[in-house]
Amino acid sequence: MADQSQVARSRRFLALEGRDINKETFVTPWAEAGLMVVDSPYDPAPSLRIENGRVVELDGKAEADFDLIDRFIAERALDLTVAEEAMSIPSLDIARMLVDIHVSAETVRRLVFGCTPAKLVDVMRQMSPLEMMMGLAKMRVRRTPANQAHVTNWREHPALLAADAAEAALRGFAEAETTVRVARMAPLNALAILIGVQTGRGGVLTQCAVEEKLGLTLAIKGLTSYAETLSVYGTERSFVDGDDTPWSKAFLNAAYASRGVKIRFTSGTGSEALMGHAEQKSMLYLEARCLLITRGAGSQGVQNGSISCIALPEALPGGVRAVLAENLLASMLGLEVASGNDALASHSQIRKTAKLMLQFIPGTDFIFSGYSAVPKKDNMFGGGNFDADDLDDYDVLQRDMQIDGGLRPIFEEEALAIRRRAAQAIQAVYAQLGFPPITDAEVEAAVTAHSSDDLPERDLVPDLAAADGVLASDCGLLTIVRALHAGGFPDVARNVFEMGRQRVAGDYLHPAAIFDRAFRVQSSINDTNDYAGPGTGYRLTGDRWNEIQSIRQAKAPHDFIAAQQGSPAPRLAEAGQAYVGTMPEVVIAVGPAFGTALVRTINGLDHEAVLEALLTGIASEGLIGRVVKVYHTSDCAAIGHVAARLSGSGIGIGLQSRGTTVLTRRGYAPLHNLELFPQSSSLTLAIYEQIGRNAARYAKGEAPPPVGVKVDNTARLRLIVKTALLHRRETEEVRRDQPPVELRFDWEPALP
Ligand code: 5AD
Ligand code: CA
Repeated sequence: MADQSQVARSRRFLALEGRDINKETFVTPWAEAGLMVVDSPYDPAPSLRIENGRVVELDGKAEADFDLIDRFIAERALDLTVAEEAMSIPSLDIARMLVDIHVSAETVRRLVFGCTPAKLVDVMRQMSPLEMMMGLAKMRVRRTPANQAHVTNWREHPALLAADAAEAALRGFAEAETTVRVARMAPLNALAILIGVQTGRGGVLTQCAVEEKLGLTLAIKGLTSYAETLSVYGTERSFVDGDDTPWSKAFLNAAYASRGVKIRFTSGTGSEALMGHAEQKSMLYLEARCLLITRGAGSQGVQNGSISCIALPEALPGGVRAVLAENLLASMLGLEVASGNDALASHSQIRKTAKLMLQFIPGTDFIFSGYSAVPKKDNMFGGGNFDADDLDDYDVLQRDMQIDGGLRPIFEEEALAIRRRAAQAIQAVYAQLGFPPITDAEVEAAVTAHSSDDLPERDLVPDLAAADGVLASDCGLLTIVRALHAGGFPDVARNVFEMGRQRVAGDYLHPAAIFDRAFRVQSSINDTNDYAGPGTGYRLTGDRWNEIQSIRQAKAPHDFIAAQQGSPAPRLAEAGQAYVGTMPEVVIAVGPAFGTALVRTINGLDHEAVLEALLTGIASEGLIGRVVKVYHTSDCAAIGHVAARLSGSGIGIGLQSRGTTVLTRRGYAPLHNLELFPQSSSLTLAIYEQIGRNAARYAKGEAPPPVGVKVDNTARLRLIVKTALLHRRETEEVRRDQPPVELRFDWEPALP
């Protein structure tokens, strides 16, 4: 017996094992290896000692023992004018300020600027995810949330990059980033998405994520306008392994910014453990150090939320909560937050959506630090968490919750038009600059493509030579503007030129700056998040709410029942007040719209055909069927009740116009019945005939087996709108005071 219980497998567990969630990796915490999201026993307790304006102890460590990061934080990141005050306030009190609508973001932030990394973590430890979301809604720096797109493809096809970038811009993304499969393609990929987004709408910021020197070169040329892959880490060893220090990152930040390029750093839980240098510390503690480095280096923002390491915190208990905590910490520090959701975080659709809600509902500066606007296999960042195939889902989520997730629904025609214009624009620029030609066939393929599989093969070798040429020459923003002009795209030229003009103005270097659809800078300076509870902050209303509602799939209510309406059934006629029968008959009572206001059931069966089927079934048992129409009610049970009351045998069939049917007997309570067929959409003429036959058998005193109808689990989901509208139409025909009438039905049963 014991043996048997060892081999027996639960079919339920076997089914669960086949689910996507069980493709994930889950690991138990191991603090020594940094595999712990918060509360490593090796994490220091918060402490700060200042002597003569100098930090001499930070989170339990004396100045003599400081590593590079401690030193940078002590010298650059802490506001020593508030530090002692902030450190003396209980963490729980600061946590409560974060959710208290009567405490302003500035009040909290002033104190946060004086908190050490361990103190920041201690504040997070007090908070539930819901409280963190409330904190994020208040502390996010820009009032209006936005979104960032990934635009790449495996073939590195310029026309497809341009078309996809244009569509992404049209969909509302405020930033678009590309990267490379082959490093040398960087200049051409940057060029393609620049032209693409500026065709889609003016003002979308772009970047090309590549090695720092190349990234800076592209930015200085004006081919990109932001950069965010300046990685920082929470331990010295991780940093040094990347050849960097906090000071070198601060220098690079300044180098970009001095050329008018918007910068944000990248950090996130898990990177140090992944690199093997977690120093036994928890992921959130190390991330708090990263965020203080980011602030200390003068970066306006951060891309965080684990980013490429997301699967690591997700493998651990509390991982998703910790990722929300790191986003919140960044916003508390006044940093623009591009809140992850970029890399594939789960196999499970349920889990990946649940995770998204933590940023989607409160809103962040960029809810995704890279929504894959291309199919997964074309995502050269390694596969997005949400991708092009999820765009309709995302639009519906915005509509469901009345939440601005930074995107808008678009129509196919608009997408095709903008894709064509962008692909033609890059074609013209290639022609003007003497790059390898983009053929009309390539353009057309890019217009309609889903993925790069839909594009013809393109020889990368001459493209790579052209890419090298861009770097070797003085080809830059003005070269592109001239080429667009000469190639017949003055509108795109104007937008690209405007990006250059804006770079000189420098307004988009303000924290959390993006361009709105009127090409105006929208940043934490002129669009300050002023959330202070209900009725304040960003509200999705007016035109923007209308836009988000208007998904292409939404139909007008009358369209749902058009197919059920038509000219009245010709063979049905009213024939005076209905009577109580005495014969061994079956009475069929129909609803008030039957054959008149409505002429077909929910699945398109002609009302006359349904009557024929029922009557055929009754006749096949040798009985007569009589038809009456009920006016005083549209309720199925009540209609059936009338049928039974009028029937000589006491057996009646109630039939609503949408097809819902009940078989009942005189004397039964109104809501009791012999057989109920609530899913009108599952009823066929054959089933109606069986219902008629069973009715006759009940009338003869027999006890037939109930008619078997398949249960369709999705029927209600699919048809509830149609059902509601058909029922409403039937109810419109109700005449409270009108008694049932006889219906004459011009029909002869086919003789057997
Ligand atoms: N910490 C630091 N940098 C990260 N990146 C991704 N995830 C993290 C992280 N958790 C960086 C990568 C690459 C870009 C995509 O962002 O190093 O440069
Ligand atoms: Ca990004």
